[in-house]
Amino acid sequence: MSFEKNCADAVAVLEKIRIVPVLVLNDVDRGLKMCEVLMQCGLPAAEITFRTKAASRIITEAAKRFPELYLGAGTVLDIDELNRAFDSGAKFAVAPGFNPAVVSEAVRNAFAFAPGVCTPSEVEQAMYLGCKFLKFFPAGEAGGVKMLKSIIAPYRHRGIRFMPTGGVTAANAAEYLAVNEVVAVGGTYLGKSADIENNNWDAIRQAVAGAVELKNSLVR
Ligand code: 3PG
Repeated sequence: MSFEKNCADAVAVLEKIRIVPVLVLNDVDRGLKMCEVLMQCGLPAAEITFRTKAASRIITEAAKRFPELYLGAGTVLDIDELNRAFDSGAKFAVAPGFNPAVVSEAVRNAFAFAPGVCTPSEVEQAMYLGCKFLKFFPAGEAGGVKMLKSIIAPYRHRGIRFMPTGGVTAANAAEYLAVNEVVAVGGTYLGKSADIENNNWDAIRQAVAGAVELKNSLVR
């Protein structure tokens, strides 16, 4: 399997799911509970960020318990984290920024990886290394949908696809998802750390149910 094929496979799955909760999870039990809520609500994907020590264990356990859940690793900042993400069973990984060393390692291992970009120069450097699937981050602060459309225009013929995150909310997700090149959006609003820590599962269910409703209302 090649890097290109595995990235294309990730895009194919994510463009059906459309809205990916970005999670910062401190402990395995709550992490698994969050995954259970996602499955119950019908949003079978999560980006588990490597901002906590528990991340790789949660991916491993969740992959066993919820085989239908499409699990990605987020905030993958170096080669060690990339390899741990792969070993834990993540199906894809993303990073906030573009690090050529991490991208090259992902390409070498054919591990689907979307580096973060928010300028044309970063898009071109990532493309040069073989990436066609990119995270647009921080989407809101970088100029939102308007900026994303401007960035897409010169690369459309190369088939570059984007996952915007950073500032995506229930109020603006649809606007990003209306852009053809947008595979899916990601956001922490679907599993806020404070809600997870305080076991506010009803609030989380409500946010996730809203995302499912939005995704079902979209025509593609
Ligand atoms: C990310 O890691 O993609 C972002 O931190 C998510 O940003 P948000 O908190 O604005 O959703």
